[in-house]
Amino acid sequence: MDRRLQHQQQNRGTEFHGRVALVTGAAQGMGFAMACRLAAAGARVAMNDSNATALAAAVADLRQQGADALAIPADVTIETEVRRMFATVLEQFGALDILINNAGVLRPTRCEQIATQEWDLVLDTNLKGTFLCCREAIPLLRRSEAGRIVNLSSTAGKSVSTIGGAHYTAAKAGVLGLTRHLAKELGHERITVNAVCPGLIDTEMVRGTIAAASIAAYASSFPLQRLGEPAEIAELVAFLASDRAAYITGASLDINGGDLTI
Ligand SMILES: NC(=O)c1ccc[n+]([C@@H]2O[C@H](COP(=O)([O-])OP(=O)(O)OC[C@H]3O[C@@H](n4cnc5c(N)ncnc54)[C@H](O)[C@@H]3O)[C@@H](O)[C@H]2O)c1
Repeated sequence: MDRRLQHQQQNRGTEFHGRVALVTGAAQGMGFAMACRLAAAGARVAMNDSNATALAAAVADLRQQGADALAIPADVTIETEVRRMFATVLEQFGALDILINNAGVLRPTRCEQIATQEWDLVLDTNLKGTFLCCREAIPLLRRSEAGRIVNLSSTAGKSVSTIGGAHYTAAKAGVLGLTRHLAKELGHERITVNAVCPGLIDTEMVRGTIAAASIAAYASSFPLQRLGEPAEIAELVAFLASDRAAYITGASLDINGGDLTI
């Protein structure tokens, strides 16, 4: 094995030592897996979610595993709550190095049936929430030696959503545009901004939207013949958040079992 690679692997356990990360939508699913992955490599992790009860349980779970984790219940679509969340991160941890914009909602509604309120919910959570968090994070990331933003888009953002509606596809495409634009604006400050585009991943978002039989049918249609696991997405996010990805910015990385190959 390449010596440098060997060294990196041995050090994975402390890769984020001294770094502070904020993960939104971290009470369950991929957000929880990301918080676990970053904490396992030494990060102090601020975990956000709008579901305060589920968040408290998730943070307690991580703390029990020895992580330095902090619960910040907040709705990422509400400007005042987002401001307060970043103020809390600064107050409790004194800095921010990594922002993971993971909070999201999906609705499977066909376009003609989408109520304006539902359109707003999907766009606000996936896109506006990402913008609000980026805006508050920028002044803090500027002070970091290696500021990182990782946004959760989807195969929906590059093509068309498998199980979500037009609002979900539009929101996730918007996340990709925001990612590219911020990468250009912030590169000179050594802040990288990237997106990940997962395919169908085994979480509540999917299990709560389609029946088990449909999930199995989708899974068998993918080249890798299964859904992705939250921990697999967390691994890619951790890579993008690390020093190993210092020259990657404005990118959108596919992780979809071969479902979408472009
Ligand atoms: N599961 C998939 O197949 C899949 C595929 C591609 C992209 N994604 C994206 O990945 C991200 C995580 O998805 P998941 O499958 O883990 O979802 P999930 O539904 O399991 O978890 C999402 C979390 O976000 C929280 N949340 C929702 N609205 C919020 C708000 N306004 N403020 C704060 N927190 C809020 C929820 O309470 C929940 O805990 C989402 O952005 C989703 O769109 C998911």
